[in-house]
Amino acid sequence: MKILVTGGLGFIGSHTVVELQNEGYEVVIIDDCSNADEKVLDGITAITGKKPVFEKIDLKERSKVEEFFKRHQDIEGVIHFAASKAVGESVEKPLLYYENNIGTLVYMLKELSKKNSASFIFSSSCTVYGQADTMPITENAPVKPAESPYGNTKQIGEEIIRDTCKVTPGLNAIALRYFNPMGAHPSSEIGELPIGVPQNLVPFITQTGVGLREQLSVFGDDYPTSDGTCVRDYIYVVDLAKAHVVALQRLLGGKNKDNYEVFNVGTGKGSTVLEVIKSFEKVSGRKLNYKIVDRRPGDITSAYADTTIANKELGWKAQYTLDQAMKSAWDWEQKIRS
Ligand code: WQD
Repeated sequence: MKILVTGGLGFIGSHTVVELQNEGYEVVIIDDCSNADEKVLDGITAITGKKPVFEKIDLKERSKVEEFFKRHQDIEGVIHFAASKAVGESVEKPLLYYENNIGTLVYMLKELSKKNSASFIFSSSCTVYGQADTMPITENAPVKPAESPYGNTKQIGEEIIRDTCKVTPGLNAIALRYFNPMGAHPSSEIGELPIGVPQNLVPFITQTGVGLREQLSVFGDDYPTSDGTCVRDYIYVVDLAKAHVVALQRLLGGKNKDNYEVFNVGTGKGSTVLEVIKSFEKVSGRKLNYKIVDRRPGDITSAYADTTIANKELGWKAQYTLDQAMKSAWDWEQKIRS
């Protein structure tokens, strides 16, 4: 069975391609390589022994998208990762984000709507909740006004898919709301490859640990949390990748209870920034050089998932601990810097 993975050379996309291939699916990757390197294909192939078909296509070019689906009429499912995802950049370049994240989603759905049946998995984010009122966060927590154009594209994207599924009989979709993905494949063949200075905590920690960065700035320790630093739900990227496969199988097997469903994908456990640093120091045996600085504008105090529905409906639960995920991130960092 042929599955299209858009953004399949990216961090979460590449790990999901590996898990799809492990399950015997034939995978076609579309990526525009704007934020990913074609060499990731070699890493995927080294792990699974199967080189996925790859086509470098900019999904903003509608004619190219149409032409692709004409050549691949046997695609039965799509996992759609392709999007710009830097929160800060989205504030400076909103139209780039609305065009790249929304326009391409519309073109993808137009093609899938032509098919008798199609299963669609959408990469969403816990960012849609903003600062939720209660922890852990359930799927029916209110979606709050987005704090960034990036977050807005995830909210709008979910609504577009929901509205389209309502009037497209053969189209069934699931939105997965990720919490904070981290780590790398245990083989160290693929992992996170941030371009430039990492915005996210974990790659900044490992780059500091390996000496690429001088010092980690901890953005504030005056939050109302156990140690004053923000709480997030750090989920191992392989656990997250497996969630995509079971979500797809739910749709392909007709097990879904509605034509559009939403699931939180996290560990259900919150960790503070200082706890993440401690995890790094434990698994690496190194002291991390960091300092407390002012809060980062736009940061929320706390976000961690209630994963009851995903556990029950998908039969999926995160298996790896923060330390195991951090070890994989550290192994990867050391390998790519060696
Ligand atoms: C985590 C914590 C920072 C860097 C973002 C997006 C979200 C998703 C994941 C795409 C926060 C602190 C960070 C640093 C720090 N992306 N931090 N020093 O902001 O929770 O989520 O990435 O889907 O949509 O919003 O992740 O890793 O940036 O920050 O102290 O150098 O680490 O303040 O508390 P975030 P993050």
